Amino acid sequence: MAVRVVIGTQWGDEGKGKYIDILAGKADVVVRYSGGSNAGHTVVVNGLKYALSLIPTGILHRGKTCVIGNGVVIDPAVLTAEMKELEGKGVDMSRLFISDRAHLIMPYHKALDELQEKARGDARLGTTKRGIGPAYSDKTARDGIRMCDLLEKDVFVKKVKANLKIKNKIISYAYGEKAFDADKIIEEYMGYAEALKERITDTTVLIHKAIDEGREILFEGAQATMLDLDFGSFPYVTSSSAVAGGVCIGAGIGPTCIDEVYGVLKAYTSRVGAGPFPTEQDNETGDRIRELGGEYGTVTGRPRRCGWLDTVMIRYAARINGITWLAINHLDTIGKLGTIKLCRAYMKNGKEINRIPASLTEFARCKPVYEEFEGWDEDISGIRDYRDLPGNAKKYLKRIEELAGVRIKYIGVGREREQVITVE
Ligand code: GDP
Ligand code: IMO
Ligand code: MG
Repeated sequence: MAVRVVIGTQWGDEGKGKYIDILAGKADVVVRYSGGSNAGHTVVVNGLKYALSLIPTGILHRGKTCVIGNGVVIDPAVLTAEMKELEGKGVDMSRLFISDRAHLIMPYHKALDELQEKARGDARLGTTKRGIGPAYSDKTARDGIRMCDLLEKDVFVKKVKANLKIKNKIISYAYGEKAFDADKIIEEYMGYAEALKERITDTTVLIHKAIDEGREILFEGAQATMLDLDFGSFPYVTSSSAVAGGVCIGAGIGPTCIDEVYGVLKAYTSRVGAGPFPTEQDNETGDRIRELGGEYGTVTGRPRRCGWLDTVMIRYAARINGITWLAINHLDTIGKLGTIKLCRAYMKNGKEINRIPASLTEFARCKPVYEEFEGWDEDISGIRDYRDLPGNAKKYLKRIEELAGVRIKYIGVGREREQVITVE
């Protein structure tokens, strides 16, 4: 039996989906524990691309039990549409369960996300506008509406009306926008209740039973360490606990249950949305990485900001998450760059530092200290044995391991499920 967690070590989009898909092959249960439809996890199987947002990636493997845990905020419009799309591609949806404790994203959350971003002006965070921040705010303010409320119409109606009393005032008076109609929302959401009611359950019972039976469980991280509400580059973060610790809160297991934590990274760094990014290459190099790596958002289609790999960040992520193995992607992409730079430390006030400052002013002032590596001309996308990798690629990987203080177990050399090297 093993309980595994897959998390992102950078600013998201590291290619978690690919490893979750691979590790899901040996799992019995796959659980999403945080975030919502801000996530976009790409998996390519036999040339067919799947972009999963809310539904655990394990769904692509027949017979796996998939769980959307209590830590996730659920937009039922997105969820039902995603279910339909996957069913259309022949994916079996019968083993999908949803926590009755998970909070709902309501239409006013999406509207407020958009309005708040507009009001921030130049200081906007660059959110996905999926209602994530406002939904988690309501959860912590204890105004949120949960999946279990969908199953009790009178409770749901009462909560929607109570929320709208305040929300509509904010939307119309503070932002000058049109108020929401309670009846319309209730009718729409009762439709989702009907569509989802068989799947809404106490998922902790299901997860604990699987643990007791010695089954393999995989926790699917969304977002990443640098987007984590506590440990990321606040306020340019998401509103959930994306780190491995989030599993305990977002799925209802104790920390002693976790056996392995896989930290996924790219051989470079990317970021969507605003905020400091020390190794960013806002130049031809960044453009080249974007084009070679296909760095455009899965959810919003936005071009991703690109730069060199920052091992200060990977080491930080290793500590915060208790990473046991690294899984690195896009080794095929980075090799094509000629000379590759790797950030070893930051220079701050004339001194090398090895930590991520909490203050964004300080973080923005950090100047990367780089080491240089030679790229490789060979096409490595067909390589499946570590020994066959070019010497320059091995040198680069070894140095990443040294600086991060964690061993690499998987190396991605392409988008396909099969394009992975397992380091024995
Ligand atoms: P996630 O959110 O962490 O699951 O990552 P995304 O799916 O948003 O973004 C990762 C992108 O990189 C996707 O387009 C993947 O298909 C692609 N990808 C993942 N691993 C590799 C790799 O090793 N090489 C290449 N070229 N592309 C990869
Ligand atoms: P996956 O799981 C990359 C970013 C947004 C924005 C910030 C806040 O695919 O790695 P939010 O809508 O969450 O309030 O936006 O977080 N962001 C992501 N960036 N990958 C993601 O998920 C992200 N989810 C949120 O771009 O900067
Ligand atoms: Mg993504």
